[in-house]
Amino acid sequence: MKRKTKAKVILQKKLQEGIYDLRLGTDLARDAHAGQFIGIYTSDRSKLLPRPISICEYDRDEGMLRLVYRVTGPGTGTEEISHLTPGDEVYIIGILGNGYDTRMIADNFSHPVIMGGGIGIPPMLGLAKELDEAYQGRAQITSILGYRDSDLFLDKFFRDVSKVYIATEDGSVGTKGNVLDVMRDSASAQGEGRIECDVILACGPMPMLRAIAAYAREKGIKAYVSLEERMACGIGACLGCITRTHDIDSHTHVHNARICTDGPVFDADDLVL
Ligand SMILES: Cc1cc2nc3c(=O)[nH]c(=O)nc-3n(C[C@H](O)[C@H](O)[C@H](O)COP(=O)(O)OP(=O)(O)OC[C@H]3O[C@@H](n4cnc5c(N)ncnc54)[C@H](O)[C@@H]3O)c2cc1C
Ligand code: FES
Repeated sequence: MKRKTKAKVILQKKLQEGIYDLRLGTDLARDAHAGQFIGIYTSDRSKLLPRPISICEYDRDEGMLRLVYRVTGPGTGTEEISHLTPGDEVYIIGILGNGYDTRMIADNFSHPVIMGGGIGIPPMLGLAKELDEAYQGRAQITSILGYRDSDLFLDKFFRDVSKVYIATEDGSVGTKGNVLDVMRDSASAQGEGRIECDVILACGPMPMLRAIAAYAREKGIKAYVSLEERMACGIGACLGCITRTHDIDSHTHVHNARICTDGPVFDADDLVL
């Protein structure tokens, strides 16, 4: 059951310029799954809507949610959140969204490849850890992480549970280009360098997800994408987050799905991207 509740800030750390790591103490953590998100309310009354932030990691026993987010600019809700310090209390709503069905993935696929781009990377860490548990060593989990430049973040945590490849737009680390360029490079590689893949799990900017969906279709690979589009209420009430689908939605009777409740994770085949 989703609900609005007070959470306590356990820790807040700057990971790099404009990117923050926030740990919240909340009993909502016991219902958390990879790919889900929470809404964080700010105290500024002109900003009534909660800010949707993905769950990067969770500890159900400790009642802890880890969130990694980017400050979008001065005077924004995320900037206010970045000033929270340990001991502060903040209202949150959650747990929101569907998340990844890691058991289904582990039962049906042998070569999972996680792709995260920019601020789409944080939710994929929780996913990598959940997949690691679900597979119990039966599969090599691969993570391809795309950054702008050599200011990497979270990559070390991915290395604990998966084989990591890096792409940077400026070519300063790993493959020059984007996450799909890593796949294309690997196609000509032999042995160690070749990435086996029968399912892609991705989060990142829309052009990246669109390209991944097209690539997966072309190669006959299944893809599940997490959409982090503009959102308002976060609980399915305002239709402020719809995305085009091939099927007709039972709520709106049109070719739409609500990202906040039907997603944010979708089978790429169901979406008109
Ligand atoms: C499911 C989901 C998960 C997300 N996870 C993360 C994450 O883990 N880390 C992270 O840095 N960002 C994440 N985002 C994006 C994040 O929600 C926005 O950057 C943030 O809401 C911007 O708020 P603001 O107050 O800084 O900006 P403002 O521009 O002041 O926000 C104004 C309004 O627009 C909405 N809004 C603005 N930009 C976005 C956006 N890109 N996506 C959704 N709503 C937006 C806000 O919720 C708010 O209601 C996620 C978005 C969604 C939908
Ligand atoms: S944000 Fe209101 S319905 Fe999704």
